[in-house]
Amino acid sequence: MEATATAKIAPSMLSSDFANLASEAHRMCQCGADWLHMDIMDGHFVPNLTIGAPVIESLRKHTEIFLDCHLMVTNPLDYVEPLGKAGASGFTFHYEAAKDNWQELIPKIKEKGMKPAVAVKPGTPIEEIYPLVESENPVEMVLVMTVEPGFGGQKFMPEMMDKVRTLRKKYPSLDIEVDGGLGASTIDTAASAGANCIVAGSSVFGAPEPAEVISVMRKTVEKAQQKN
Ligand code: DX5
Ligand code: ZN
Repeated sequence: MEATATAKIAPSMLSSDFANLASEAHRMCQCGADWLHMDIMDGHFVPNLTIGAPVIESLRKHTEIFLDCHLMVTNPLDYVEPLGKAGASGFTFHYEAAKDNWQELIPKIKEKGMKPAVAVKPGTPIEEIYPLVESENPVEMVLVMTVEPGFGGQKFMPEMMDKVRTLRKKYPSLDIEVDGGLGASTIDTAASAGANCIVAGSSVFGAPEPAEVISVMRKTVEKAQQKN
């Protein structure tokens, strides 16, 4: 395998203190975060409600870091314009919410200067997103959910690693992200399967030394890449 996709560690701000978002973001940057993962939920696609473009816009004034926005929403198209304006860097929509309009969605995301990506829920077969990676206007990252989307602090589903392995074999340099239950005890499994973008909420924010958790995750990804 000639994986050239570099390791990106993305603390999920869902586990941060939302009342102190800017200082939490700065803290994560100092701890070595590459990206900040921002979970946008509409209370409809998932049974939880979080933040939207106004919060991204406020946070953008305090940091230049890549804001990796994960849209757990029913109508992702409605969010492209406001999130682009707000300063989002990555726009990851769920395939389950865009089966009928991804061809329209991806170029619009790019037009707004964001990195287009697609996420799949645990029940969605990975084959379904091949056309999005291979289209004329392709997604630049695939997010394989390793928990049911909606809440932090859930248990990692190792059975999702088949999806990651299949993707890595097929697309050696594609950014492959995993999200849900990642931490010191699960990073090895995800990294060996071929994931290079790692989202981690509770394991980072719950640690006495978040910098150490971030560093272990980065090293594990890099080591796995050398082996393959
Ligand atoms: C869950 C979110 C995740 C969540 C991960 O729907 O997409 O980003 O914050 O949290 P942990 O790492 O605690 O599983
Ligand atoms: Zn997420």
